[in-house]
Amino acid sequence: MRLIFSLLAALSLAWGGPALAAKPIVIKFSHVVAESTPKGQGALMFKKLVEERLPGKVTVEVYPNSSLFGDAKEMEALALGDIQLIAPSLAKFDKYTKKLQLFDLPFLFKDMEAVDRFQNGKDGKALLRVMEKKGFLGLGYWHNGLKVLSANKPLRTPEDAKGLKFRVQNSDVLVAQFQAVGAVPQKMAFSEVYQALQTGAIDGCENPWSNLYSQKFYEVQPYITESDHGLLDYMVLTNSDFWDGLPKDIRTVLEKTMDEVTVKVNQIADDINQKQRGQVRDSGRSQFIQLTPAERAAWVKAMEPVWKKFEDGIGADLIKAAVASNK
Ligand code: LMR
Repeated sequence: MRLIFSLLAALSLAWGGPALAAKPIVIKFSHVVAESTPKGQGALMFKKLVEERLPGKVTVEVYPNSSLFGDAKEMEALALGDIQLIAPSLAKFDKYTKKLQLFDLPFLFKDMEAVDRFQNGKDGKALLRVMEKKGFLGLGYWHNGLKVLSANKPLRTPEDAKGLKFRVQNSDVLVAQFQAVGAVPQKMAFSEVYQALQTGAIDGCENPWSNLYSQKFYEVQPYITESDHGLLDYMVLTNSDFWDGLPKDIRTVLEKTMDEVTVKVNQIADDINQKQRGQVRDSGRSQFIQLTPAERAAWVKAMEPVWKKFEDGIGADLIKAAVASNK
């Protein structure tokens, strides 16, 4: 009897064992934008490098354009282990932490170099772990870029936005930002924006160029104001249990690859946005509006009260540290 068991055990090791061990770990990376955007490119780059470096051990499946999970469901799906990587905009974490509301404060960072300084500094790095107790671990920040305003009417002064309906991401700061200029904000999933603009359910929105271009919003937004009034960046997020449970050698390669891809995405994001800005301009569908310094100052002033409103939740020190990265 014993012998039979030993034989069976040996056989299962010989056949089942190696077969089981050879099964690759699958990492599903779900996101809501087009593949041509900085995040879309980053996800593909990560897939390519990981599969080159860990052949047969790790497979990365990328699901762009809300094709697997959209805004409403991706955090939940990550928590449940249905997917292993997402990279939501920093505006989409209200439900999990108030600290990241920092990144939505209007006119906080003067340019993307300041964003880099903050994200790569002590406070920025600490924020990657701010949702750890909820089971989420940040692996890095990926840039998209600064947002422009678009609408079916020209927006030069804050008064021009009065009464217009703007789509916002799921962020209370962005709601307050539009209320501060007398506009009517509406939280809406990214995948619904084009149709809402087309049918007139909303009048305007705010996006970096790459989203405005790749989702064709510019086709239904005749005026674009180059306001650069806020940031749209991402936190690449994984499920902490999944990540901690990976074999150490594999996790090390994944972390190294993520760091490399993060540097690369952040180098190319601005080029992609500038190129796609050019494509929007060449389409001739939208008129570009540049603000004079006085016009811009009026927007800054109108939106200033938003900072105070969210200071307690974010922390005055964190706001101070972000402001300090501007010099
Ligand atoms: C949006 O909802 O506007 C953005 O967060 C989409 C994205 O991921 O860039």
